[in-house]
Amino acid sequence: MTELEAIQTRHSVRGYQDKPIAPETLKLLRERVGQINQESGLHIQLMEETDGVYGSAISRLSGWRNVPSYLALVGPEGPNLEEKCGYYGEKLVLYAQTIGLNSCWAGIFRAKQVWAEIRPGEKLALTIALGYGATQGKPRKSKTFQEVTELKGEAPDWFKKGVEAALLAPTAVNQQKFRFSLGEDGEAQLKVSGPGPFVNVDLGIVKYHFELASGRTVK
Ligand SMILES: Cc1cc2nc3c(=O)[nH]c(=O)nc-3n(C[C@H](O)[C@H](O)[C@H](O)COP(=O)(O)O)c2cc1C
Repeated sequence: MTELEAIQTRHSVRGYQDKPIAPETLKLLRERVGQINQESGLHIQLMEETDGVYGSAISRLSGWRNVPSYLALVGPEGPNLEEKCGYYGEKLVLYAQTIGLNSCWAGIFRAKQVWAEIRPGEKLALTIALGYGATQGKPRKSKTFQEVTELKGEAPDWFKKGVEAALLAPTAVNQQKFRFSLGEDGEAQLKVSGPGPFVNVDLGIVKYHFELASGRTVK
């Protein structure tokens, strides 16, 4: 499975099979996390055990079960941290899907149970649960192309492909608060379209989907 195919098949999964991730798969993940940290300057850590990170009453009520492992998204504190975590975290989400894992972004979790290393000047932004899903998750409601774009005329094909992939991206509480447009220079532009939890993380996630599917960068 390619990452582009993974965009189509990925859905959030909160309930997992009660089994650990296979050692060879953990090794692949660890390698990919290392590459991504080098590329981004983030300090993402693969935590092989969850130690109750998703064990609160709220998490259980939301259907979280048996999460075997997770990613702690840690990085240098600053205005770009959330968007960066979104962009590079989603690279890991799609990669995980290509190697047979399921996942769910989690902004709500028990931070006190996270044993990741947080160096001075760094912050734990959020986490991503990983494991073998009890199911593959399911498609959810989505905004339409028109609702997330501001266009003066017909958009080129690459732009349409990018937006379609962006509409399949996970966003906090499925809020999809983003807007794509085309600049005077013909390049794609992206902005947050309203307030909401983790909108800047969402922006990074959506940007990665758009870039992967369109082959273009976004401003
Ligand atoms: C930044 C972010 C934070 C999220 N936090 C949580 C969370 O704390 N708990 C939860 O159950 N789901 C969480 N989600 C998952 C979203 O609810 C889910 O992605 C959304 O409903 C869309 O569904 P899909 O991922 O299946 O496409 C989060 C998603 C994102 C992108």
